[in-house]
Amino acid sequence: MAAQPTADLNFIPEVAAPSVPLGPVAEAARQGLTASPKYLPAWLFYDANGSRLFERITELPEYYLTRTERAIFAGYADGIFAAASAAYQQATEGTVSSSAEMPGKLRVVELGAGTATKTGILLAAAVRAQGETEYLPIDVSPEALQEACATLERTLNSVAVRPQVANYVTDTLNLRPHTGPTLALYIGSSIGNFSPDEAESILRNLRAQLRPGDSLLLGTDLVKDRAVLEAAYCDAAMVTEAFNLNVLRRLNREIGASFDLAAFRHVAHFNAAKSRIEMHLKSVCRQTVRIPSLHLSVSFEQGETIHTENSYKFTAAFITGLLQASGFAPAKTWTDEKNWFAVTLATAV
Ligand code: TRP
Repeated sequence: MAAQPTADLNFIPEVAAPSVPLGPVAEAARQGLTASPKYLPAWLFYDANGSRLFERITELPEYYLTRTERAIFAGYADGIFAAASAAYQQATEGTVSSSAEMPGKLRVVELGAGTATKTGILLAAAVRAQGETEYLPIDVSPEALQEACATLERTLNSVAVRPQVANYVTDTLNLRPHTGPTLALYIGSSIGNFSPDEAESILRNLRAQLRPGDSLLLGTDLVKDRAVLEAAYCDAAMVTEAFNLNVLRRLNREIGASFDLAAFRHVAHFNAAKSRIEMHLKSVCRQTVRIPSLHLSVSFEQGETIHTENSYKFTAAFITGLLQASGFAPAKTWTDEKNWFAVTLATAV
């Protein structure tokens, strides 16, 4: 794990800490806002409003990630499905115990599925190849999952959707048993929102739920020109700012914090040494924010930031190393003509 930020004297506990256990949102706020430097975990973004704002980000002209990855899926979905099936066949050849056993169909699992807008392209390829296909989307946002189910049921009636509301970062994954291959999707460069150590542990957690020959399809944003990267996280319409500030709105609503949203600004810059876009909320003035439910007052200097998110940018070598370290063998990579985004199929070993 990355070094944890150390506790800070920059806050004033008003009375003794409450003895009742805090909910996850309150606990996250307490930890992050009493640390130095201050931070908030990225999963806090995805309440109903945050999930909606994120959908708008994916449609912004500057935000090339979603449309680039979608174009890769549109071009290669059948090949991706075929490669995942072939990997399973190769790994399980000669291991089928009884001749009467029916080879099971490939099922699709997705971590952080959201509204699953891009997934339809891959599911359509699965349906073309094998007919009826089971799809298990996992997400922290029940609202986003509901929308995923509604859209897929309308457009792809050969897909059986079995949604699961879960936080794949804080909870251990628990997939129902399955005879036949599993293709796990972890797309949208969501892996890039975690530190390399966290990324490895998320992939290990996933790997523990898979069997040799199952596949992971990993979508990763690649290192590129700084201006292109920074524009994607600081759009002209300021939707990304609204998305970032929404985390403070959530703390106001859910734990009774008193953040003045007009007193914070969204900033995003590429940290080349760490190969990541960093997103922060910067305090425009010296101020103190009270969170009575936590018996906490949080003081900000003018210009001080809350680090709210990272988005790591990858190289081919780094992707290979990460996959191998977490129990996968990279099998094939598809990319776009500018080499901006990579979609890598890896086999569980
Ligand atoms: N994983 C994507 C990315 O890093 C999507 C994303 C997550 C995102 N959090 C974000 C995009 C915050 C913009 C702002 O790009």
